[in-house]
Amino acid sequence: MIQLNNINKTYKTSSGLLKAVDAVSVHIEKGEVFGFIGFSGAGKSTLLRCINLLERPDEGGVQVDGEDFTGLSKKELLKQRQKIGMIFQNYNLLQNANVFDNVAFPLEIAHVPKESRREHVEKSLAIVDLSEKARDYPAKLSGGQKQRVAIARAIVTEPKILLCDEPTSALDPQTTQSILEYLKRVNQDLGITVVIVTHEMEAARHVCDRVAVMEHGKLIETVTMSASSSLAQSDLAKMLFVDGGGI
Ligand SMILES: Nc1ncnc2c1ncn2[C@@H]1O[C@H](COP(=O)(O)OP(=O)(O)OP(=O)(O)O)[C@@H](O)[C@H]1O
Ligand SMILES: [Mg+2]
Repeated sequence: MIQLNNINKTYKTSSGLLKAVDAVSVHIEKGEVFGFIGFSGAGKSTLLRCINLLERPDEGGVQVDGEDFTGLSKKELLKQRQKIGMIFQNYNLLQNANVFDNVAFPLEIAHVPKESRREHVEKSLAIVDLSEKARDYPAKLSGGQKQRVAIARAIVTEPKILLCDEPTSALDPQTTQSILEYLKRVNQDLGITVVIVTHEMEAARHVCDRVAVMEHGKLIETVTMSASSSLAQSDLAKMLFVDGGGI
């Protein structure tokens, strides 16, 4: 479903060149919940953004659903990107639009006729249990509710993949749990492949089928969560999983 082949990304910084992603290859299966963990600066967000080419790799191939993204024209890429929804730590909601209009926004961008938007928006809001809040503005919502609006907005175009960059980092443990449950629901009920970047081991442990451990731009190990995570090989993965550590 998602195939990353030898992805490399270097940034020019004031102190020289910085290799943010270093020769990473990974295959994410259709229907999987796949996590990326690692310390700050490991390259997790950069790699995630390479999947929908928000960040263009200097080298390497990105295939999504059999389509070679790196070879697409700008116009074709915009179309293909509709297969991929994304959510962020800070929700990125439109403050001047109510919940309904926030969720409807991607449909507007995709030129879905106004008459047929309502049905899609209502369906998405129902999945995150926010039908009652459709007329409220983001300022009136809790952090967890804002993230649920962001999830509804991300799935309204019926994408095949949902990319999540630290979706629960700004939330308390209880709300984190609830957001993870909603992501699991999106995965199981809608069949959407979910890719999560997180610092939180508990998050990884609870929702992910597999977790890739990143360090200094490299993917150092992929751990299957259903098998015992104590099978982790690398010192970093052992520390994160077995010692019950967090980052
Ligand atoms: N646009 C950019 N320009 C220059 N350097 C960048 C840019 N984006 C990221 N970097 C650098 O690339 C490295 C990887 O960054 P990235 O944001 O991917 O890490 P991360 O694993 O997501 O970290 P965090 O857990 O803190 O979010 C870091 O050293 C970062 O400073
Ligand atoms: Mg990041």
